[in-house]
Amino acid sequence: MSGSFKEKAKSILKSNDRGGFTVPTSNLYPYQWNWDSAFAALGFATFDRNRAWCELELLFEAQWEDGMLPHIVFRNDDPRYFPGPSFWQSGTTPPTSGHSQPPVTASIVWSLVQSGDHSDLERARKLFPSLLKFHNWFHCARDPDGTGLIGIIHPWESGRDNSPDWDFGMAGIEVADDLGDYKRQDTNFVDAEERPTSDQYDRYLTLIKFGREHNWDQQLITKKGPFLVADPGINFILMRADRDLLQLAGRLGIEDCKETIESWIAKSREACRSLWNPDIECYAARDMRSGQFSEGISSAAMLAFYADAGSEREYEKLARHAEEILQIAKYAFPSWDPRHDRFDSRRYWRGPTWAIMNYMIAEGMAEQGFDDLAARIHQDTLQLIQTSGFCEYFDPITGDGLGGQLFTWTAAILLVLADSSSVK
Ligand code: DGY
Repeated sequence: MSGSFKEKAKSILKSNDRGGFTVPTSNLYPYQWNWDSAFAALGFATFDRNRAWCELELLFEAQWEDGMLPHIVFRNDDPRYFPGPSFWQSGTTPPTSGHSQPPVTASIVWSLVQSGDHSDLERARKLFPSLLKFHNWFHCARDPDGTGLIGIIHPWESGRDNSPDWDFGMAGIEVADDLGDYKRQDTNFVDAEERPTSDQYDRYLTLIKFGREHNWDQQLITKKGPFLVADPGINFILMRADRDLLQLAGRLGIEDCKETIESWIAKSREACRSLWNPDIECYAARDMRSGQFSEGISSAAMLAFYADAGSEREYEKLARHAEEILQIAKYAFPSWDPRHDRFDSRRYWRGPTWAIMNYMIAEGMAEQGFDDLAARIHQDTLQLIQTSGFCEYFDPITGDGLGGQLFTWTAAILLVLADSSSVK
């Protein structure tokens, strides 16, 4: 790759800028995505603080009245993407999808405040009520029985769309017989072997159809919808984000929500115990209705460090799993255990390595004292990008770059890592 890596990363963020919001990559994802945007803000913050805040502020303009921050914001109707606004029928302005995505926003706002000055604090103060409302939405709408465990109503809500974690929940969905002859657009831009299967798409669309036929009534969908799975990723990311929100409230001198946030954290910590699958001695996804566990180790399980969710014994066990996995995978951290029969090194979330997951996993491991593992993950992330480019994801065995190219969040993570290493 010619030119400096940092300059290349900045130019990717700038070229994916659509006027205040950033698309994950052109063509494949031509709208604003929730957690992609949050990571874009983290990248922008390394060279343009105002632009970083605009990204977050514009995202929150699409927040629903009930507090939900949707996973896609459709500001136009772009034929390059399916399912678009007419399929979702959110009935909102702007049109959006009907569920959320991993709530990394509060953590990113907190990180901007920590590295910033008075003006960052004031931008965070304005956003704070929306962040609090968003977290409250997750704790209420996605935890209908008040157990402390958060469920997802669509695999896309986890951000890990086709992870084997959802195979059992997806198998239980009866595919709607009136989906019609829809035309996927994603495979126009990316090799079908690197994307979810057609059968998975039938089920994704069936879930959307259920949501829109129930007017996106979130309580009802969570209670009665065809899919409700507790994702270690969402639970750990929300737990971390609650902690960061609490710190932010403290810095802003906001006292009246302190008890509420503390009770969310305490409840989540307790509830996460039920995600420890004793058969594999690891955290795993779990069907919230049948109690059935997923049987493999995903990269989301490694976010327990980031959440500060585990005991010392569990951290040791997770670290041992990580070391074993990284003896097989040359490039940390595979989204699915390469020793498992459902591992597929090239297919989206069934094996490939993702820079954003690496960033969160390594941050958590370093915080919990697993410095060698954290360093290995950082090094591998940089090496993957330097060797294969700013791809959406990477083959953890060969290092091949996969999925969309010139990808916003990969560029953002390069910028963040570059600030703490010798990348030029
Ligand atoms: C897609 O279209 O593949 C997205 O990941 C859904 O969020």
